[in-house]
Amino acid sequence: MEQVRDVTEVRRRVAAARREGRTIGFVPTMGALHEGHLSLVRQARAACGSVVVSIFVNPTQFGAGEDLARYPRREAEDAALCEAAGVDLLYLPDARAMYPDGFATSVEVSGVTEGGEGAARPGHFRGVATVVTKLFLQVGPDRAYFGRKDLQQVAVVRRLIRDLDFPIELVVGETVRDGDGLALSSRNAYLSPEDRRRAADLPRALFATRERARRGERDGASLERSTRQALETAGLAVDYVEVVDAASMRRAGLVDSGTALAAAVRLGKTRLIDNVLLLEP
Ligand code: PAJ
Repeated sequence: MEQVRDVTEVRRRVAAARREGRTIGFVPTMGALHEGHLSLVRQARAACGSVVVSIFVNPTQFGAGEDLARYPRREAEDAALCEAAGVDLLYLPDARAMYPDGFATSVEVSGVTEGGEGAARPGHFRGVATVVTKLFLQVGPDRAYFGRKDLQQVAVVRRLIRDLDFPIELVVGETVRDGDGLALSSRNAYLSPEDRRRAADLPRALFATRERARRGERDGASLERSTRQALETAGLAVDYVEVVDAASMRRAGLVDSGTALAAAVRLGKTRLIDNVLLLEP
């Protein structure tokens, strides 16, 4: 595995892999890698001739007062995990190079960013769309791998790829969970042992609602209400609970095969998000 910080070096290596006829698979991350990230890397490894992973804790997608300063940084461990997973190129850009003095351009995706995380974290998806655009232009992959854990991010990236004509196939990986159902997240590291136990009430509430939908309840508002109630009863502070169409991220009055239930809660200082597709296995 090669590790590079400079975009020119990335371009050189990707071009060399292409000349050898390899397809390029790309997994963008913010590091503190766990099985969720590694499952995407493995899918890329299985399908592509060359696998590029980036690690960049992107400052522009964090709001004022969010956890940018304390976001976990574990470069050496992450590099070892990438090496073991068969990554070809690890790209570790610096913030000064990504955002040079005078940086003034951003990418704004409207529509899909209106509700959910977009409403709860103003500017978040502008930061995500901008950095993902930059990374796509820098790496130039054939396929890019994103996790369904961040459902709205997937909708944003799908829109971005279509609207800006990126010749990139988006591959969506399923959410990887711990034994008690909690979706793996770099932010789980912030939880005290007690909060970590309580965090499993988030997926538990989502799974219970999914069961109601599978048994025939199709009314979005009713499913939102029972989920919110379960979360509040468990003592979690609810940011939002939304039944949405996963592609458009618009509220869905009636559940169909494309409908997801998405929620964000706060446990102490930690914010957790999760979602499930209501009618798919
Ligand atoms: P990060 O939170 O590090 O996540 C990197 C990728 O891993 C994302 O596509 C995310 O959806 C996926 N992922 C995280 N936890 C997962 C889980 N439990 N199961 C499956 N996939 C999971 O998302 C970002 O970074 C950033 O916003 C980024 C796209 C890198 C732009 O800065």
